Parts: sequence; C-alpha cells; structure tokens
Amino acid sequence: MDQVFPVNDYGPIMPGLVMAGVAIVHVFLAQFAVGGGVLLCYFQWLAMTGRDPHARQFVSGYFKLLVLISFVLGALTGVGIWLTAIQISPATIGSMVDHFHWLWATEWTFFCLEIVSGYSFYRYHSRLNDRAAMTLLAIYAAASWMSLFIINGILSWQLTPGRWLETHNVFDGFFNPGFWPSLFFRTIVSLTLAALAACVVTNMMPSLNRGARRSLINRAALMLVPMVLMPGLGIWFLAVMPADSRSWVLGGSPAMMLFLNIAIGSSMAIGAYAIFGMVMQRLYINSATASLLLMLAFGATAGGEFVREGSRKPYSIRYVLYSNAIRPDQVARLRDIGCTSDDPYGLRNDSMYPDDQVRLGAKVFRRQCSVCHTVSGTNAVTELTGAWDQNQMRLNFAKLQHTKPFMPPFAGTAVELESLVQFINWSSDPQATRPHAGDSDPGTLGQIEAWLQEAGTAPGNFEQNHKRH
Ligand code: HEC
Repeated sequence: MDQVFPVNDYGPIMPGLVMAGVAIVHVFLAQFAVGGGVLLCYFQWLAMTGRDPHARQFVSGYFKLLVLISFVLGALTGVGIWLTAIQISPATIGSMVDHFHWLWATEWTFFCLEIVSGYSFYRYHSRLNDRAAMTLLAIYAAASWMSLFIINGILSWQLTPGRWLETHNVFDGFFNPGFWPSLFFRTIVSLTLAALAACVVTNMMPSLNRGARRSLINRAALMLVPMVLMPGLGIWFLAVMPADSRSWVLGGSPAMMLFLNIAIGSSMAIGAYAIFGMVMQRLYINSATASLLLMLAFGATAGGEFVREGSRKPYSIRYVLYSNAIRPDQVARLRDIGCTSDDPYGLRNDSMYPDDQVRLGAKVFRRQCSVCHTVSGTNAVTELTGAWDQNQMRLNFAKLQHTKPFMPPFAGTAVELESLVQFINWSSDPQATRPHAGDSDPGTLGQIEAWLQEAGTAPGNFEQNHKRH
C-alpha cells in the first residue's frame, strides 16, 4: 500500500486531537455499555432470587438509559470513529482492517447480537418470564464484552505488536503483550462506569424512598471493588510497553505525563471514595456526588486513552507505520524521490501562496507533519520554531527524529526540506520579503543533504527501539 491518501485539514485543531476527541467519547460510552450488561445481570438475579424488592424496577429504568446511551450515542460515535480515521490516517485503519479482517467481522457479529438481544429485552421484557429476561440480558452482556475483547486485541496490537512482527500470525498480533493487562483494565473500568451510572439512575427514580435507594446503591457499589486491582494492572501495562513509549509517559513528554497523572489521580479519587465510602461504610451518595464521580471517570478515561494513543508516537502502528502514514522502510526511498512526487492532491487555496517553493513546502508539511502539527493552531510549527533561525530549522528538521525521538525521520529531499523551511517562514510572516522563488543556494542544499546523511533514516532512539533483535 504505497498509495498516498489526503489528510483532512481541521484548521487550528490538529487531526490527531480530533481523532482522540471522538475516540475518547466513544470508548467511554462503549465501556459503559459493557459494564451495564454485567450490572443488569446482577440486578436481574437479585430480583429473581428475591434479594432486593426494588431490583426489578431498577433493571427496567437502567436499561432505558443504557439503550439510549449505548445504542444511540454509542453507535453514532462508533461510526464517527471510522469517518474520522479515514480522514486522518486511511493507511492506519486500512492496515488494521487488512491484518484483522475476520476479527472485525466477528466483532461486528457480536455487535449485532448485542443489539438484537438488547432491543428484544427493551421491547419485550415486561412480557417475558424471569428466566427468559435473564437469558437475554446474559446474551447482551456476553456479546458486548466479546466485542470489547476483540477490539482490545486490535488496539493493543498497535502499541505492542510483539511476536507478530516476525511471524505475521493473526493470533500473535491479537494476543500481543498488551492484550491481557488492557483487557482486564478495560473490564474493570467498564464495571466502574456502570456502577457509577447506577448511582445516578437510582437517584433519578422518584418512586423509591431513601432506604430503597440506599440498598440499591450499596449493591451497585460491589461492582467498584475490582478497582483495587487497577494499580497492579496499570504497572503490568507499563511493563509490557516499549521502553521509549514508557519513557515518554514517565516524564519524557510533559503532556503525556500530565495526562497520565490526570488518569491516575482521578481513578484514585474514585477508587478511594468507592472502597472506603461506598463499600466499607455503606455511604449513601446523592445524584450530585454520583454525577461528579462519573465526570471524574470521564476525565480518567480521557487521560488514559490520550496516553495510550500518544505514547505510540512516532508510530501509529509500532515499527510498521509512522503516524504520518509513511512506513519506516519507505524513508530512504522518499529521501531520493521526494515525498511530494507521488502525492496527486492539489492544495486547498492554492492561489493563496506566493510562489511554487512555498506551495511545495505546504505539500511537504501536509504529508509529513500535519497529522501532529498545525501551522498556527495547536502544536503549531510556527510557534515551535519561533526562536530558531533558518539554519537551525534546517538542521533540526533534517535530524527530526533526534530533535525529538517521538517524531519520525524526515522523509524527503533536501529541496523539499528547504521548501518546508520557507513555507514555515512565510506562514510566520507573510509580509516579509521572500528570496527569489525556488532559488535555493546550492551551498544550503548541500549542507541540508549532509545533515540528512548524518541523521540517517532510522527512527530516533534507535538502540532502544530495536532491543528486540
Ligand atoms: C508523530 C507526530 C509528529 C510528527 C509526524 C511531527 N511532529 Fe513535530 N513534534 C511532535 C510533538 C508531540 C512535539 C513536541 C511538542 C512540544 O514539546 O510541545 C513536536 C515538536 C516539534 C518541534 C519543536 C522541537 C523542539 O525541540 O522544541 C518542531 C520544530 C517540530 N516538531 C516540527 C515538525 C516538522 C517540521 C514535522 C514534519 C516534517 C514534524 N514536526 C512532524 C510530533 C510530531
């Protein structure tokens, strides 16, 4: 797949951030749906065995919310993920589909089962006997967890492809080193979200008195107990991460570390409240507190997903594909033929640029940098290079992977690199007088060429990245 696909331009918001935004909302809703299924089975069992007189009422109230949220919003954002992914990195999503074709198909089958059983329950549960209702709920819960099981394998493969790199065996890729810790972790998150939502729902049921609510909340709180395993699972996950990704998260990248701390901080706050307050002291929690905890959980999910996505840098699929859709084994060739020669797409607002050199630079930027940077919005190159003179830009771009090892190596010719420098210069100050269009000094190009040679075509932190050999 050497075809070049266009990357959508979202103006001041970098594409990676758009992807993260959609993905975080979807993951939150989807995990709630998974936990919700398990929680409902538990309450249906409480109802059937006469352990809680209000459990039956809770089940039908909760299920309405689950249907609205997971079926409607979950499906909308799920489709949103595909739409966003193909606008940002068709190569990444294409490769995920390519390698795991039948697993996606299996996942889709489970999703259908989830929808059919869920809808049947929603529509007919008042007419069904207890056993039949329980069966539907159990199918719903199992099917939604299975779709988590499958997606989890494909997503964790992106960061820790493990033995798959040598064998290309689907199951080596699927049951990769990150599979189990993240499966357990996500399952616990799902239970947590479902339990917190249960507290909100219980508070919203006007016909229940306080005693009835308290009893339901105390039951739901049991689903928070597995949270005690989260720190251990988090450490397990960190341990199987590639060494450089781990180093970004643990301090190499301030943004990543911040998000990790948000995730850990909010999870610990929820966990402490849940275990000490709700489980041990059997505290009652009102809807305000419950909603607040749920919001904290959203923050934790956002932080966690951000770290998971961000720590893959410079790759979107570890060792296989850089975030800018260039493969590591293409870099050397693109240094020769250029990264714009096979790019068939015109520039948006082509006539806005002053000359062909700047146009070329805009194309280089779009192909190699735009997935992680904007020109003047988030993570703006004009800001980041603000303190550098032209030569410093040339040097640092030529050695991009050593400037910051979470960037891929520069994959173009010296002429393209120079045009990128001129594009950024012009973007920073469109009024400044430009040197003659395309008239690069041979000495400058020679110097860039030498720096590119020195940088090599391998990713930064090469030693660490390739320990596995
Ligand atoms: C995989 C994502 C990714 C790609 C692709 C990428 N960058 Fe970056 N770049 C980053 C991140 C993340 C930072 C760190 C920003 C920060 O420190 O706030 C960064 C930092 C920078 C900096 C500041 C470096 C410093 O030492 O302060 C510059 C300049 C830069 N990038 C330019 C580029 C250019 C030019 C390209 C394309 C040729 C590019 N980047 C491609 C992610 C990327």
